Amino acid sequence: MAYEMILAETHGPTAVIRLNRPKALNALCDQLMAELGEALRGYDADDAIFSIILTGSEKAFAAGADIKEMKDRVFPDVYLNDFIAKWEVVTTIRKPVIAAVAGFALGGGCELAMMCDFILAAENAKFGQPEINLGVIPGAGGTQRLTRAVGKAKAMELVLTGRFMDAAEAERAGLVSRIVPTETLLEEALKVGEKLASLSRPATAMAKEAVNRAFESTLAEGIRFERRLFQGLFATADQKEGMSAFAEKRPAQFTHG
Ligand code: CAA
Repeated sequence: MAYEMILAETHGPTAVIRLNRPKALNALCDQLMAELGEALRGYDADDAIFSIILTGSEKAFAAGADIKEMKDRVFPDVYLNDFIAKWEVVTTIRKPVIAAVAGFALGGGCELAMMCDFILAAENAKFGQPEINLGVIPGAGGTQRLTRAVGKAKAMELVLTGRFMDAAEAERAGLVSRIVPTETLLEEALKVGEKLASLSRPATAMAKEAVNRAFESTLAEGIRFERRLFQGLFATADQKEGMSAFAEKRPAQFTHG
């Protein structure tokens, strides 16, 4: 598929998908989201790729769902076609997906970033759920994922008032893993990609699955799930290699088996 609204390229073991609709601040229209889904699925199936970075421009990660595309839609269409259901593909990717966010991450843009495994923020990043100003509410998980990430008080204020958070506030609140200088955002994300490519694939995939389970289960069930995955990893060659390499004071060479 030839892409028109995203750029997709690989940097060694890391795929970089750049949202590329600059005139609309990367507003997430149906075509852009279809292209994003296709690219994500392709890289997830590609054995040469270990992780995926999702980024935008310096001005905008994404300014939300495309308001102009949505404005004349009516309930039966929105309900039956459920265009946002297609966005959920992001949450089905098994490899790590890192959101590298500079500029605006608003509405669906903030929700898309939160569907990724973690968010690296540039100093100029701005996060918000301003849908209330449009007479609607977040529709791609904002009321749920933001609340889990930053707690009720801050999520409720942002969703009710549409106020934006800058990168420093987002880091203090736990929405982003860390802040990096805007000009080195991609470089920093690629360093994470290099690190991930040096690790065991089964361990990485299970680590992601286990952390995500924390959002879907009780503590006791989550801990049982984690324990089984931990025990299961003792059936892998990578566990033998990783622990032997430590004991022998040498770097591990994982074979992903
Ligand atoms: N949808 C469609 N077009 C958008 C857009 C969006 N979400 N955000 C920006 N644009 C367009 C603008 O219409 C404008 O296009 P024109 O040049 O053709 O007029 C262009 O991008 C540049 O935008 P601005 O001139 O507004 O740029 P600015 O720097 O003055 O302001 C901004 C930047 C504060 C991000 C402002 O564009 C803005 O408020 N955007 C809308 C943010 C928003 O409400 N997002 C939520 C969308 S609803 C949603 O996401 C639902 C959901 O939960 C799934």
